[in-house]
Amino acid sequence: MPPTASYEQGILRKSEMVDEERSRRADSHHGECSDQPRRHRSCPGNRHDNRTVELPSNLGIKPYAFGLALGDVVENTVNFWYDQQVPATSKEERAKTNGNMPNLIRGEFAYKVRSLNGIWATPPYLHNGSVPTIDALLGPADERPKTFYLGHREYDPEKLGYRYGKFTNGFEFNTSLRGNSNRGHEFTDDEKAYGRVGPALSPGDRKALIEYLKTL
Ligand code: HEM
Repeated sequence: MPPTASYEQGILRKSEMVDEERSRRADSHHGECSDQPRRHRSCPGNRHDNRTVELPSNLGIKPYAFGLALGDVVENTVNFWYDQQVPATSKEERAKTNGNMPNLIRGEFAYKVRSLNGIWATPPYLHNGSVPTIDALLGPADERPKTFYLGHREYDPEKLGYRYGKFTNGFEFNTSLRGNSNRGHEFTDDEKAYGRVGPALSPGDRKALIEYLKTL
């Protein structure tokens, strides 16, 4: 079976993805165990952390790591269908139907930002939930709350976020802890600032953006 384009372009290398030793262990274990799949938790050694799925033999797919196998399943299923047509789908027609694009598991190394639809409803913000309100996110990073409290649902429609003052049994989010940084994604006139996304916003611009984001 020819490798998919993603292997060739080195985006995902099989040798890096597959732990051969573990995959062999999982395979031999399957030979020993006679339990029904749902009872495998009781197997000696409980080695089912490296699970495999049964695939139709006509697809000619080996049990690789899941992501790679999934790419192969898609590619080979589509090709199998093309082969079954009478007459078999031509090379040109296949390319056209495939959108003239290779079957890549992953296009490029990039962080894809989520859409801002409904963003008002999903505080706290940034990938680590380190900024409690949109108002703070649009303002200078130095002015963002250094510590805030999570755990209740009292919403602040002016700042767009939950009220975050201290309360009994609230979870304290401390932005000075490792992994909790609230910097980046900043509107500032300092062109060298880390994570700058644009010039500083005036209070009026900030308010206008907040009103707009409420409509999404
Ligand atoms: C007025 C313009 C912008 C607004 C209102 C805005 C708003 C936001 C909001 C609300 C988030 C948080 C998303 C979440 O927590 O789910 C966010 C994240 C993000 N935005 Fe923007 N953004 C703007 C411009 C930009 C620009 C110009 C860039 C890139 C140059 C950018 C790159 C990002 C990135 C990379 C994240 C994710 C950061 C992380 O998760 O840590 N944004 N944006």
